[in-house]
Amino acid sequence: MRLAVIPGDGIGPEVIEEALKVLEEVAPGAETTTYDLGAARWHSTGELLPESVLTELQQHDAILLGAVGDPSVPSGILERGLLLRLRFELDHHVNLRPARLYPGVRGPLSGNAEIDMVVVREGTEGPYVGTGGLLRKDTPHEIATEVSVNTAFGVERVVRDAFFRAERRPRKHLTLVHKTNVLTFSGRLWSRLVEEVSLEHPDVSVSYLHIDAATIHMVTDPGRFDVIVTDNLFGDILTDLAAAITGGIGLAASGNLDGSRKNPSMFEPVHGSAPDIAGQGIADPTAAVLSVALLLDHLGNVEEARRIEAAVAFDLATRDHSATGHTRSIGDRLAALVSSHA
Ligand code: NAI
Ligand code: MG
Repeated sequence: MRLAVIPGDGIGPEVIEEALKVLEEVAPGAETTTYDLGAARWHSTGELLPESVLTELQQHDAILLGAVGDPSVPSGILERGLLLRLRFELDHHVNLRPARLYPGVRGPLSGNAEIDMVVVREGTEGPYVGTGGLLRKDTPHEIATEVSVNTAFGVERVVRDAFFRAERRPRKHLTLVHKTNVLTFSGRLWSRLVEEVSLEHPDVSVSYLHIDAATIHMVTDPGRFDVIVTDNLFGDILTDLAAAITGGIGLAASGNLDGSRKNPSMFEPVHGSAPDIAGQGIADPTAAVLSVALLLDHLGNVEEARRIEAAVAFDLATRDHSATGHTRSIGDRLAALVSSHA
């Protein structure tokens, strides 16, 4: 396995170190190459994602990313120039974000609902494509457009991925989340393609929710969700909510997948570089470790992925959640657990 590693900034390198420790236990011998992209590199050289680095990244089986960002970098520079650029250049059209409330973890919701869902968010279209611009900038007549792009090709492939996943899960349920009553053009396209693809998956039940209603249900009845398929912007927002109700940002993992497998997929914790706790050794590495499980699953190392998830489940069920965790001790514990479950 040839793995490109982008530790990034802040707590990124701290959590990645633990994630690699667990990977080495579960699948020894992965060949890793580290790339110093992020705020630090931008400050020292002005570079975000040099062409040569992009070419090198493409020669790997997968990419593991910590987090990039720092308050010293103006907003938008790293997001557009590095993170979004990677997703677009590597055609990461499936943004996969599972959200599961593990036993032992107390989410903010009352009651102990069973929450186990996976959000399949479109990753290369929608309002994030950068189609738009400014006219009459900095005048009282300024005009700003941000056009949401939805192609039949782009929607169909992410819908297919979601059905494929739903079919392999016990509940086999898929929810389309959109705002078809207001965004009628793209809404029609999404609804039509979900309906068409559903004919090929008669065993998957399908429902629909508007994005605003979906936020209500995610708080009042999150157990109803199994697989959710949605566009780039709605998925961005909904997955933060899904992470929040399942124990928070320290546990949420994600994958940016090129379903065609022409390009390496990229796996990363949902959280950012957390400058407020960087350098203290207290960041929870669990999200990064679970991202390694998604990575292994994607590469076909399914048994290894399940072992990591089992180790995390055991750790969370037995962890003292009232005490401040330490990055290294959580990593050590997870590494020991995966090897004992071998
Ligand atoms: P953040 O996710 O870095 O932090 C939000 C809050 O969650 C902070 O209080 C932080 O201490 C806490 N937190 C995050 N990860 C944690 C962990 N593993 N364990 C314990 N606590 C954790 O989001 P924020 O503060 O909005 O952004 C900080 C920087 O990260 C910004 O520069 C932002 O642009 C960048 N960012 C990068 C992302 C990426 O690389 N994919 C994603 C989100 C933000
Ligand atoms: Mg987000």
